[in-house]
Amino acid sequence: MYTAGVDCQRLTRDLPTGKTLAMKFLIANWKMNGSAERVREFAFSMNQALGRLPCAVTCVFCPPASYLSEAKLMLPQNAQLKLGAQTCHSKASGAYTGELSAAMVRDIGADYVILGHSERRAAGESDTEILGQAVTALAAGLTPVICVGESREAYEAGKTAEILKAQLQPFATLASSKLLIAYEPIWAIGTGLTPKTAEISAAHAQIKMVLGSATPVLYGGSVNPTNLGEILKLSEVAGALIGGASLEIESMMAMTEIAAK
Ligand code: PGA
Repeated sequence: MYTAGVDCQRLTRDLPTGKTLAMKFLIANWKMNGSAERVREFAFSMNQALGRLPCAVTCVFCPPASYLSEAKLMLPQNAQLKLGAQTCHSKASGAYTGELSAAMVRDIGADYVILGHSERRAAGESDTEILGQAVTALAAGLTPVICVGESREAYEAGKTAEILKAQLQPFATLASSKLLIAYEPIWAIGTGLTPKTAEISAAHAQIKMVLGSATPVLYGGSVNPTNLGEILKLSEVAGALIGGASLEIESMMAMTEIAAK
């Protein structure tokens, strides 16, 4: 079981049965969407919704970098609602115009950072850069959420396991209990398509074979309130990375309730 962080330490306390539930993570990746007003509304509503739920759900809000400070103002300390950035740079500081270092992300008050999203890999981010980002993120005290996943061609050619192994190998040297992995098939992102549940289980098992069982593995790609319950029933799945459906406060609230069951 994932043990790092305040959230997990509160895990059993609020459960009337005393039963320990595994932590479920819901990561809201807003990509390049939203406004200061929407960020305030989202943080306020989610904060209220999560306060009513058992401690076994951690929601990580990842708005665009320009709104991280705004979001932080709305989030109380140690709540189940955490803040995350959508990337950080692999270098600690220097002449990197437009970039944000891991220490800066931490300074704003974020606890998580999404790394290696397929949209950034498509824009040229390499495995070496992503590994560098993960190393600096860990050094700054952030939890990296590393995204991996196969293309449609690789999926159709039955090469998912091979691709995952290659993408994960660089991270095998890092402390596996301090990472989250998001399995996001590229063909499932923003398309309304999802793999069969057996395929999600197989991919998650493959990831744990490379990194060990201490790393929580999330699923991402067209997650919504209709399919989340079925996905979270899979014992290998520790949560979801949600793009489009996380922009709607109502649907995000519905998903936190599903994850809390
Ligand atoms: P989606 O995006 O939920 O809109 O498919 C997921 C992601 O890109 O992380």
